[in-house]
Amino acid sequence: DAVELGLFKHYMQKEIFEQPQALANTLELISGGAGISPLHFGARAPEVFDGVRRVLILACGTSYHAGLVARYWIESIAKIPVTVEIASEYRYRDSVPDADSLVVVISQSGETADTLAALKHAKALGMDRTLAICNVPESAIVRETALRFITRAGPEIGVASTKAFTTQLAAFALLTLALAKLNGRLNDADEERHLTALRHLPVAVQKVLELEPEIERWAQRFASKEHALFLGRGRHWPIAMEGALKLKEVSYIHAEAYAAGELKHGPLALVDKNMPVIAIAPADELLEKLKSNLQEVRARGGELYVFADAGSEIPESEGVHILHMPEHYGMLSPVLHVIPLQLLSYHAALVKGTDVDKPRNLAKSVTVE
Ligand code: G6P
Repeated sequence: DAVELGLFKHYMQKEIFEQPQALANTLELISGGAGISPLHFGARAPEVFDGVRRVLILACGTSYHAGLVARYWIESIAKIPVTVEIASEYRYRDSVPDADSLVVVISQSGETADTLAALKHAKALGMDRTLAICNVPESAIVRETALRFITRAGPEIGVASTKAFTTQLAAFALLTLALAKLNGRLNDADEERHLTALRHLPVAVQKVLELEPEIERWAQRFASKEHALFLGRGRHWPIAMEGALKLKEVSYIHAEAYAAGELKHGPLALVDKNMPVIAIAPADELLEKLKSNLQEVRARGGELYVFADAGSEIPESEGVHILHMPEHYGMLSPVLHVIPLQLLSYHAALVKGTDVDKPRNLAKSVTVE
């Protein structure tokens, strides 16, 4: 392979550890004193964004999960309604087109057949305000959109996407703030606050990566499990989904993700001592709600593995394992919380001896239907 592994054992591990640099490169646009601008998305962006009343996000796989996080950000900060749809569903559905929608397609490769077809479908329906968030500059998807944002993750070789995902989130953070600014929803003080958090993000991610030895120990216990349940709330629900997807992809352990509030509407029936429950527990406004969900799990004998921010105050006890995240990171917290889940899947896969970089039956770029 043209890309060297260096000191790493697998591309997935290398790519997980490249995330601070990938984020710094992707966020270079706002380094120094530069502020948020629609021009990050191309010279035509001011005209394309003008009068946008809705956002429609189309993607597959991990890229779809980035879109789901973006929905929380765009709606709460830019106050624009967002729909996120799996590309293969959208392209065959009788949907109602809206020319005032900004259509955002996200794809690491820029070649995913369903995403490309969904984009063409949206255009055929008269939706011309299109933006690609993509990691490959000359790809098919990038050639089809009015605007583009190229994430600078560098080549991603591991089939399971890692650094592409976090750089997609960085791109969406910039998009959220650019739309908010155009909408008059971002005052100077808030812009400065968000910029500071974004500029500090690579360092914050680096600190989370240092948790690897602890996560490795958790992975030892996980590898013998057949199923796992991931719980999250709000903007961390898509992170729970991404954690479950990663675990399935590389360790072949069956995993499902639920919005924690849905637990009582079905999955609680699955909980017993053989079903580990992984909880994403940021110290945000939903923490107290999540804690009561976790008690429901404990009361049924379920073993809990909790990724808790500093300040979450969830005590370690019999059957409750806590991994302390270095800090709570506000809006961008999903970027930090996905990192330990990537590491957990990677190490569970190592224990199981699967082909981490090329899991069975999967392809890096799915160019067929
Ligand atoms: C494949 C890959 C996934 C990826 C998905 C979408 O399934 O294995 O890692 O998330 O395609 O790919 P894209 O290149 O469009 O982001």
